[in-house]
Amino acid sequence: MACAEIILSIIAKGVLDKIASLTFSEISMVRGVNKEMEKFKKTLSSIKAVLSDAEEQQVKNHTVQDWLEKLKDVVYDVDDVLDEISTEVLRQKVETHGSILKQVDNFFSHSNPVAFSFKISRKIKDIRERLDDIVLERRNFHFKEQVVDAQVQNKVREQSHSFMRESDVIGRDYDKDKIVELLLSSSDHESLSVIPIVGLGGLGKTTLVKLVYNDERIVRNFELRLWVCVSQEFDLKKLLEKIIKSGTGANCGYLELDQLQTCLRDNLNAKKFLIILDDVWNDDPTKWIELRNLLSDGANGSKIIVTTRSTVVASIMGTTQSYNLKGLSNDECLSILVKFAFKEGDAKRYPKLVDIGKAIVTKCGGIPLAVRTLGCLLYMKIEEREWLYIKDNEIWKLEQKENDILPALRLSYEQMPSYLKQCFVYCSIFPKDCEIGRVQLITLWMAQGFLLPNGSRQQLEDIGNQYFNELLSRSFFHEVNEKFDAEVLMCKMHNLVHDLAQLMASTEYLNVDFNSRLVSERVRHVSFIEYDLYEKEFPMPMLNAKKLRSFSFSYQVGPISKSFLYTLILHFRCLRVLDMGGAEFEELPSFIGKLKHLRYLNLSWNRSLKVLPNSICKLLNLRTLHLYGCEQLRELPRDIGKLISLRHLYLTSQSIGLPEKMFEGLTSLRYLWFQRCNRLVSLSEGIQHLTSIRRLRMEECHSLASLPSGIKHLTALEKFWITDCQELNLLEGEDMKGLKSLQSLAIVGLPKLVALPQGLQQSAATLQYLTIQNCQGLKTLPKWLEDLTSLRRLYIRNCPTLMCLPQGVHRLTALQQLSIRGCPQLSVRCERETGEDWPNISHILEIYLDSVKIK
Ligand SMILES: Nc1ncnc2c1ncn2[C@@H]1O[C@H](COP(=O)(O)OP(=O)(O)O)[C@@H](O)[C@H]1O
Ligand SMILES: [Mg+2]
Repeated sequence: MACAEIILSIIAKGVLDKIASLTFSEISMVRGVNKEMEKFKKTLSSIKAVLSDAEEQQVKNHTVQDWLEKLKDVVYDVDDVLDEISTEVLRQKVETHGSILKQVDNFFSHSNPVAFSFKISRKIKDIRERLDDIVLERRNFHFKEQVVDAQVQNKVREQSHSFMRESDVIGRDYDKDKIVELLLSSSDHESLSVIPIVGLGGLGKTTLVKLVYNDERIVRNFELRLWVCVSQEFDLKKLLEKIIKSGTGANCGYLELDQLQTCLRDNLNAKKFLIILDDVWNDDPTKWIELRNLLSDGANGSKIIVTTRSTVVASIMGTTQSYNLKGLSNDECLSILVKFAFKEGDAKRYPKLVDIGKAIVTKCGGIPLAVRTLGCLLYMKIEEREWLYIKDNEIWKLEQKENDILPALRLSYEQMPSYLKQCFVYCSIFPKDCEIGRVQLITLWMAQGFLLPNGSRQQLEDIGNQYFNELLSRSFFHEVNEKFDAEVLMCKMHNLVHDLAQLMASTEYLNVDFNSRLVSERVRHVSFIEYDLYEKEFPMPMLNAKKLRSFSFSYQVGPISKSFLYTLILHFRCLRVLDMGGAEFEELPSFIGKLKHLRYLNLSWNRSLKVLPNSICKLLNLRTLHLYGCEQLRELPRDIGKLISLRHLYLTSQSIGLPEKMFEGLTSLRYLWFQRCNRLVSLSEGIQHLTSIRRLRMEECHSLASLPSGIKHLTALEKFWITDCQELNLLEGEDMKGLKSLQSLAIVGLPKLVALPQGLQQSAATLQYLTIQNCQGLKTLPKWLEDLTSLRRLYIRNCPTLMCLPQGVHRLTALQQLSIRGCPQLSVRCERETGEDWPNISHILEIYLDSVKIK
C-alpha cells in the first residue's frame, strides 16, 4: 500500500474508534450527533473495505485518485469535528471543576452551548453531503471488497541489537590499515592533505572511517580529532559551528562568523589535527576553498578525510588520489546477514535458511546497509517460506531509478505493519542527518494520533516506545548511543533511509521555502526550511494549506518577525503540532489559545521569551509543552494547572516558585523536567498529585534546597534524575520513600549530599540503574545498598572521598556492570585479584576502573 492509503485507513480506524467511544456527555453536546456518527461509521466501514482495490486502480485512473483524496479530506474533517466536540466536553469539565473550587472564572470566553451545537451541526451537515457524494461516485468504479489490515498487531517483536559495535564490522581490515597508513605518512611540502573516500550510499564509508578515527595509532598520532557530519548543506557558518562543537563541546550558534573564525583558529592553533568531514555533497569549489583556508592553521601532518558519494566532490576537495571503497564480498555479506538474522550461534540449526540467504545477498550488490536491513527483517523468522518470499520478491526486478533507493530498503518498508509505516514516514519531516530524540519523536506521533491503543491498559508512551524500538530493530534508525540506564535516547536515519521516508511521504508532507509556489490545501505537514526570518513575512502561498496539522522549523531559526509569528498562529486552526524550537520572539500572542486541537507546542531555546499569555492554558488538548532553554521566562502562566491533558512538560524559567495549584490540575503528567530553573527555591507540596508521573528530572536548579515530602506519593515514578543542584541536600530519612516503581536513579553533582537517602531502600525490588557522580561530600555508601537486589548497573564517578564499597555487595547478584571513575581509593580496593574488595565484586560480569575494562 502506498502511504496515502495507509494514512487513510489508519485515520479512518482512529475516527471509527473515536465514534465508537463517544461518551454520553459528548453525544448530548450536539443534537443528533449520535445518529449522524453512526451513519458515518457505516459508510466509512464499507468504504474501508475497498481502499486496497481503489489504491491499485488509482495508478491507472485519475478519477479514482481524486476520489480517494476527497475521501481523505472528509475523514480528516470528521476527525476535527469529533475533536471539537470532545474538547468542548473537556472545557466544561475544567470549568465546573473551577467553580467547585470557587474560583470566579471568566477564563473561557465563548461558552454558549446553543451556538456551539449549531456550529457543529452545520459542519456535520456539510460533511454528510460530501460523504453522500463520495458514496454515489463510488458506484462508478466497481471496486472489489477486501479485508484490510489496520489491525494493530501488538505482538512485540523481539529485539535484535541496534548498536554497531566494532566487532560487528565485517571485512574492512584491509581498508582500515590502508587508510591509517595514508594518515600517518607525512609529506613535508604539503601542510594539509585531504583524503577523499568515495563510494555508494550504504557502502560503509562512515562505518569504516569511524574505525579509523578510533584506532589507537590515530588517537596517539593526532593531538586533536574532530568529526563533522556535513550532509547536504555546506554553509560555512554552520560548518564552523559544528567543527567547534566537535572540538570543545560548546554550542556557539549565537556567534557571528568572524567570532567563529577566531574561535576556530584558537582551537586549531598549531596543533596536529585530523578532521573528518563525513558525507559531503557540495561541489562548489569556492565554498570549499573558503573553508579550507580557515583550516590551514594546523601543524604539519594535519589531515582531513572527506567521505562522499560523488567523484566530482572528491576531485574538488582531494589533495591525494581518492580511496575508492569497494563492496563487500558475498561471503562477507552472508556473515552480516547471519549476524543480524539469527541469535548468536543459531544459524547452524537452519542450514536451509542460510542457503536461501546466500541467494539473497547476491542481490545486495555488496552493500552492507542493504544486507543489514534484510537481516533485521528476517530476524526470528524461521519459516523457509518467509525467506523465499524475500528472495523471490518482485521488488528486485524494479528498475533502479535516479533517486535510487535500495530495493532491499523498499522491501523492508513494504513488510512493515501499516501503523509503523505512517510513523516512519512522519520522520521525513526531520532534516537529513539530524539527531532525533526518542521522546520527542514519540510525543510527535502521539500528537498526530498515530499511537494506537490495543485495548489493554498500555500507556501511550509505552506504545510509542514499542514503535520506536521496532524501527530500531529493523535498522531504520541507527547510530544511537544509550544512556547509563540502557535507554536509547537519540537516533539517526541513514541518508538512504531518509530518502525512502520522503519517497513514501506522499503529497501530505512538504518542505516549504520562500520559493515554494501555491501549496496544496491537502498538505498536512510542513517543515519550513528557511532561516533568517527576522524581517520576513510569512510566505503567502502557504496560507492555502488551511488544514495543516504540523508545522516545524527545520533549523534553529533564531529571531523571527512578529508578523511571521502572528500569521502562523492565526491562520492554521487545525494544527496538532507547532514546533517552534529555536525560534526567538519576545511575546507569544494571546490568540495561541484558539488552537484548540493543538497537542504539541515547542517553544524551547527561545532566549527572548519573557512571558507567556495565560490563554495558553486554554489548550486543553495540549499533551507536550517545551519551554526548555527559555532562560528569560519570568514565570509560568497562572492557570497552567488547567492543562489537564498535559503529559510532558519541559521547562526553564526564572521564577522563584510555581503557580499555586499547578500540580493539582496536571494530573496527566508523565514526564516533567526542570532545567536551569536557577531561582526556584521549592517544588510545591502539590507534587503529590502527580500520581501518574513516570519521569522526573531536575537539572541545574541551583537554589533548590530540598525536595517536598509529597515526592513519596509518586508511586509510578520510574526514572528520577537529579543533576547539578548545588544547594540540594537529600535528607537521609524521609526523602525518596515510597517510590515503589523506581528503576533508574541518577544523583549527579550534589556537593551537599553526605549520604544516600534511606528512603531508597523501599525501591529495592525495582531499582536497576544507579549512578552517583560528582558528589564531593559523599563519604560512605550505606550498608543497605546491598539490599538493592535488582540492581543491574552501578556507576560511581568523581566521588573522591568515597573509601570503599559496602561489604555486602556480593549479594547484588543481578549486578552486571560496575563502573568506577575518579575515585582513587575505591579503585585501588577494586583492583582485579589484588584489591581488598575484589572478592566481593568478582561475580559482576563487567567491571570498569577509570574507563579500563578489568573484567
Ligand atoms: N563492514 C561492515 N560490516 C557490517 N555492517 C556494516 C559494514 N559497513 C557498514 N555496515 C552497516 O551498513 C550501514 C551503512 O553504513 P554507513 O557506514 O553508514 O554507509 P555510508 O556512510 O557509506 O553511507 C550501517 O548500518 C552499518 O552499520
Ligand atoms: Mg555515511
